[in-house]
Amino acid sequence: MPGAIYAEGLVKTFGDVTALGGVDFDVPEGTVLGLLGPNGAGKTTAVRVLTTLLMPDSGSAFVAGIDVLKKPHEVRRSIGLSGQFAAVDEYLTGRENLQMVGQLYQMSRRDAKARAGELLDRFHLADAADRPAKTYSGGMRRRLDLAAALIVSPPVMFMDEPTTGLDPRNRQQLWEVIEELVAGGTTLLLTTQYLEEADRLAHDICVIDHGLVIARGTSDQLKSRTGGERVEVVVHQSDQIDPARAVLGHLGKGEAAVVPHMRKLTVPVDGGAKLLAEIIRDLDARGVEIDDIGLRRPTLDDVFISLTGHAAEQQKNDGDEAAQSVAAGTETEK
Ligand SMILES: Nc1ncnc2c1ncn2[C@@H]1O[C@H](COP(=O)(O)OP(=O)(O)O)[C@@H](O)[C@H]1O
Ligand SMILES: [Mg+2]
Repeated sequence: MPGAIYAEGLVKTFGDVTALGGVDFDVPEGTVLGLLGPNGAGKTTAVRVLTTLLMPDSGSAFVAGIDVLKKPHEVRRSIGLSGQFAAVDEYLTGRENLQMVGQLYQMSRRDAKARAGELLDRFHLADAADRPAKTYSGGMRRRLDLAAALIVSPPVMFMDEPTTGLDPRNRQQLWEVIEELVAGGTTLLLTTQYLEEADRLAHDICVIDHGLVIARGTSDQLKSRTGGERVEVVVHQSDQIDPARAVLGHLGKGEAAVVPHMRKLTVPVDGGAKLLAEIIRDLDARGVEIDDIGLRRPTLDDVFISLTGHAAEQQKNDGDEAAQSVAAGTETEK
């Protein structure tokens, strides 16, 4: 049986840009799919197609069992809320915004009020609930936006880069909220540029680049494909790159990647902190002076380098940093 979000062979081109080059998804009910990719990979296009905002050139898609292409109105009618920033009224308070959304969805005044109160608590907005939304910080708006998308408890949700641009504390809070949501049975497709975020929230991860799926798997599977943890060393002088490369090549797994102008070397390793100590000793024995050394987990760039042999192209910001979340689901009972 297809999952709560299902798509086959989605293709969408814009002129000569292939935003989606034949993408499949199957997200089992109650799970989270992390759609991971750099700017311009096609993430937003996928979300827009799945939420009926954009017609694909070909392919098929089903959300909550409804055919997105054949019955867009039915899907749209059952969309809880297209919860973009635009949906937040700056001059209303957080509470008023949520109550208004509830009433738009024909909840009784009383139910809307109760639901708004519940969500304000859950999204750590209770203290600011009676202030106009225009006084909210970026993180608070993001949470209000998500709360608005959840007024009608949609069983399927889409979140497009929900934490891009948030500071670590707000990101952490949002992650907790999303985790609670998923614990409650929501099926979620979440797009992100951060492996760390997909790692924490997603059951399955689908890595896309230039409109194509280049890898799928759990976070552990992807990380083991990229070689797990890495040691990163910055040597003091350029002529120390070669001896450092020899040390890392010997103790690490495979060749060290070098960024010459930064005098930086990176190598995948097994053995964590203990190996780090060993590397430092060996570098020291060879007279290599270190400006910086550390152990770090693979980043999206590492995943990309190992999957494609090249770094994720850093495209210029496409003006899409504002998170969009769209909630889709069957209508709640009145
Ligand atoms: N409306 C559009 N018109 C022209 N090109 C577009 C449009 N929307 C997206 N694209 C292009 O399609 C590609 C994928 O974009 P997008 O889905 O927004 O990527 P992501 O969300 O992963 O950053 C990019 O090259 C982008 O410039
Ligand atoms: Mg995008």
